[in-house]
Amino acid sequence: MLLGLHHLIPAFLLPTGFFPPEQVVFETQRLNNTGLPVPNPTHSFWIDSPQANPLAKEGSSGPLTRDADVCIIGAGITGVSSAYHLARNLGTGKMVVILEARDFCSGATGRNGGHLTPPVFIGFYDRQQKYGTEEAKKSYALENYVSSKLLKIIKQEGWDEDLDLVEGGRITMFMTEEEEQKARRDWETARMAGLERVDEVRWLEREEMQAKHGTSFPGTFFHSHNLWPLKLVSKLYSLAKSQGLNSGIDIRLHTRTPVTSISHINNATSSSARRWSLATPRGQVNCSYVIHATNAYASFLLPQLRGEVVPTRGQVIAIRPNLGAQVGRSSWRGNGGFEYWFPRYRREEERPLVILGGARDVAPRFEKDETDDSVLNVEVGKALRGFLPPLFPGMYDPNQEVEWEWTGIMGYTTSSAPFVGPVTDGITSTRVEEYEGQYIAAGYTGHGMPRAYACAEVVASMITADLSGRGNEWTAPAWFPRHYLMGHNSSA
Ligand SMILES: Cc1cc2nc3c(=O)[nH]c(=O)nc-3n(C[C@H](O)[C@H](O)[C@H](O)COP(=O)(O)OP(=O)(O)OC[C@H]3O[C@@H](n4cnc5c(N)ncnc54)[C@H](O)[C@@H]3O)c2cc1C
Ligand SMILES: *[C@@H]1O[C@H](CO)[C@@H](O)[C@H](O)[C@H]1NC(C)=O
Ligand SMILES: *[C@@H]1O[C@H](CO)[C@@H](O)[C@H](O)[C@H]1NC(C)=O
Ligand SMILES: *[C@@H]1O[C@H](CO)[C@@H](O)[C@H](O)[C@H]1NC(C)=O
Repeated sequence: MLLGLHHLIPAFLLPTGFFPPEQVVFETQRLNNTGLPVPNPTHSFWIDSPQANPLAKEGSSGPLTRDADVCIIGAGITGVSSAYHLARNLGTGKMVVILEARDFCSGATGRNGGHLTPPVFIGFYDRQQKYGTEEAKKSYALENYVSSKLLKIIKQEGWDEDLDLVEGGRITMFMTEEEEQKARRDWETARMAGLERVDEVRWLEREEMQAKHGTSFPGTFFHSHNLWPLKLVSKLYSLAKSQGLNSGIDIRLHTRTPVTSISHINNATSSSARRWSLATPRGQVNCSYVIHATNAYASFLLPQLRGEVVPTRGQVIAIRPNLGAQVGRSSWRGNGGFEYWFPRYRREEERPLVILGGARDVAPRFEKDETDDSVLNVEVGKALRGFLPPLFPGMYDPNQEVEWEWTGIMGYTTSSAPFVGPVTDGITSTRVEEYEGQYIAAGYTGHGMPRAYACAEVVASMITADLSGRGNEWTAPAWFPRHYLMGHNSSA
């Protein structure tokens, strides 16, 4: 069985955090890697399945939009959610342009495990210790808000089938006593704090797990969803575009247009004047507002985030189990969160395709400081192949060929909270003068699916308020944790 490093280190020696042993890497090494996304990334099931990405090369040739009210850098779930929120509120006559370095949605959003899963209570104790009860509760409320909001849009628009939406729930499997004890502590403290949704958590004893799921480890169950992230983002973009048209807001997309630098053109007093010029190989784009939706790559354009948003490579395989429907429909998390997997069923196929990611814990630096998703890590690949067979005896053949294998780059922060809001000149500084008009939503620490939509909403609403001269009246939604704001987000 694969064991993570944290099984070898006594718990009392570890600092608190989502993945304690990883935190050691942050604390002992200054990580510097930064860069643009590399060309020719590995092929992911989500992106490279036939006809999966109709917007792949949208706006990559022909004339470039040279002038816009808002420039969004990055076409993943953050960038597209930002456009979606702006399209509803920015005001008639406005122009929004998305600039994407590679193909549409070819970053982490097109390369993840396909989970839309708020943690419900997992990790509550640490977040409460670090940020206090109210802030900790908000960080969970934000994720519940995102998942219910996205599900509402999906149902309203009738996208369920197109996105392969699965409502299979999440089983968190405890492979060590320590993991289970931590989860019990999270659950107890969350209940005492009155966190919503804790009552729906079911504890699964070994016997029940064995009988129902064919594995002998205990766990918990709560409701959650899986879907095809790229397809969600494509549909959200088209919806933003058409809603924008209806309200006189022009939303445009230019893929294969990396932003290589940003320069000040004007210290305008009027918020509608163009303040920033974005350099791309196709020419300059001037805008009044900039949204950094570049996640793992944020520090390339914002050097103050070097070592603060750390590019971290994740790897995923897609394999067929020996069995069919007995594999179940739940999504899973195991080994302290290092592994996550779920089975995808298709009508014409007897056996599901299991999408399994993780195993960074076999790499010396947990794949931190890695921006190259054009390569696979052989050791990580071996560990992924060996992970499921011993956990589910008889269900997986260890020699089964994988059908897909890919990597993607996540943005880890030292605190594990993302950076959201006006760009400041440092992570503990609230000074914005130098960056007036620039905003960010990035650094989801491998967990952006249930967070990005809300972080984008916050940034879009700040810009809308500022543009209409009511910037000072902006108030945070009830679910927004203040420690997500850049300038208030420190690991201390
Ligand atoms: C292997 C893996 C597994 C994951 N598992 C989960 C999970 O189980 N649950 C979960 O919630 N999350 C998971 N994530 C994380 C999740 O995918 C991300 O948090 C989320 O997709 C981030 O969205 P984003 O739009 O901010 O970033 P991205 O999707 O990375 O988008 C950023 C975009 O910016 C572009 N870009 C960067 N720099 C520039 C530039 N200078 N100019 C122009 N464009 C630029 C990039 O090309 C990219 O397309 C996983 C990620 C990976 C890689
Ligand atoms: C980051 O840069 C600093 C200063 O140049 C160097 O001392 C350090 O070793 C670098 N860190 C890594 C992980 O390469
Ligand atoms: C963008 O700004 C630069 C610098 O002020 C200016 O020279 C250029 O003409 C502007 N481009 C457009 C399309 O307005
Ligand atoms: C705008 O203001 C910033 C910060 O005060 C200053 O560094 C910059 O040089 C100014 N730029 C212009 C074009 O006036």
